[in-house]
Amino acid sequence: MFSHAKPGRAESNEANAAQVVLPQIARERLDRLKAHTARIGVIGLGYVGLPLSLLLAEAGFKVTGFDIDAKKVEELEAGRSYIFRIAAEEIERARAKGFTATTEFARLSEQDAILLCVPTPLNEHREPDLSYVENTAKSAAPWIREGQLVVLESTTYPGTTEELLIPALEAGNRQGLRAQAQGAAAEHGVFYVAFSPEREDPGNVTVARREIPKVVGGHEAIATELAATLYEGIFTRAVRVSSTRVAEMTKLLENIYRCVNIALVNEMKVLSLRMGVDIWEVIDAAATKPFGFQPFYPGPGLGGHCIPIDPFYLSWKAKEFDFNTRFIELAGEVNEAMPAHVVQYVAKGLNAQRKAMNGARVLMLGMAYKKDIDDLRESPSLTVIELLRAEGAEVLYNDPYIPTVGRGRHYNLNMTSAPLDDLDQFDCVLIMTDHSEYDYKAIVRQARLVVDTRNATKGIRSEKIVRC
Ligand SMILES: NC(=O)c1ccc[n+]([C@@H]2O[C@H](COP(=O)([O-])OP(=O)(O)OC[C@H]3O[C@@H](n4cnc5c(N)ncnc54)[C@H](O)[C@@H]3O)[C@@H](O)[C@H]2O)c1
Repeated sequence: MFSHAKPGRAESNEANAAQVVLPQIARERLDRLKAHTARIGVIGLGYVGLPLSLLLAEAGFKVTGFDIDAKKVEELEAGRSYIFRIAAEEIERARAKGFTATTEFARLSEQDAILLCVPTPLNEHREPDLSYVENTAKSAAPWIREGQLVVLESTTYPGTTEELLIPALEAGNRQGLRAQAQGAAAEHGVFYVAFSPEREDPGNVTVARREIPKVVGGHEAIATELAATLYEGIFTRAVRVSSTRVAEMTKLLENIYRCVNIALVNEMKVLSLRMGVDIWEVIDAAATKPFGFQPFYPGPGLGGHCIPIDPFYLSWKAKEFDFNTRFIELAGEVNEAMPAHVVQYVAKGLNAQRKAMNGARVLMLGMAYKKDIDDLRESPSLTVIELLRAEGAEVLYNDPYIPTVGRGRHYNLNMTSAPLDDLDQFDCVLIMTDHSEYDYKAIVRQARLVVDTRNATKGIRSEKIVRC
């Protein structure tokens, strides 16, 4: 697809990859990426950046992780993990292959490629908070060198790479380098920029991480090729798209599709409850159709750093185009009503046993936003605790993955996971997360009332169970 130009011979080309002549500065990087001898810097060593660093190290790349959180860097340098599903041995294995972590951004200049994996949350007005991307760009900009590849992996609205990241990198660069633009492939004075969304599904054990194709869109064709080559070193397939905006929008379409379908099934659940129909049985039956139907499951509300947040990045950006994203707004409305729906069913369950919510002792099972993970960001459990307490209930929780809950952006709970015994001491056991290690039969046997938001008690018959 790419031809190799002789050093010093820059040629003018169209955006079409087939016509692009690869200048020397890009060719050297491409060769190192192909040979897995390239040095890769990963900025942001969280749920996305750390596993990505480990994959890269495993494939032989020399990986340096960068984070502003000195504690994380210290842990990694000591060979310890701070993410439940990543074992310390994996960190040690990567370290043996050269993986290091640092807070010193000057070391970015040693890298061939730099991958940005920093958070993209919403602010208090539910608008995109791009301060992490902006701050990262500011810290990285001075150290960007000629011919380096910079890839943004954080989920964001179409236009972020070109409207925010590139200008910030160019403005702060000490050598006055520019991002390579469409058209003439410069021999000097440029770096390359691409967007490639992270598609990891935490806790998913059915699809291996490297089997998830990596979508890649460059600011121009050389960047696409460099980034795709890098990802082909660790993923079985890279999907090249024509621009950063297409790649940015692809990620949002995927997550909005999920958000809207979960809202649909949540609405169907609320109606089915009124009609006395078991929605989970309906979904299982519908899922037998071999085409045109993909099952989504209802729950107590959305959680995690993606599905409750990402759609609003698009609805915010759409306003610039006088466009109202009605599906997103409606899905948000339905999904955000689910915690209150759960609390209503706890009240119903207690009421059936002639008990009031005020003064009731509730043990909530599961603080994580989904099963078998240790992530409580945006978890509906946090909202449900608040709502139950507002009604006068005393709430404790148990979560094998989350021993304590302190203070977060939207909560200040200071709670510790309670032991899973003496269940009959509680007026209600509320299943919020269907972790695999729970013995649901034993839970139903011991509890006085079980409110189940996940169909975790499927197949168990008992008067004590309220499914909602
Ligand atoms: N968690 C997921 O499952 C998932 C899946 C797909 C996409 N994403 C997207 O990936 C991005 C990262 O998410 P995450 O879950 O890894 O977040 P995270 O909060 O777990 O990790 C982000 C890391 O970035 C660090 N950081 C923040 N500002 C920094 C800066 N200026 N310089 C260097 N490091 C900085 C933080 O200290 C933290 O370690 C987000 O855009 C998210 O939407 C996440």
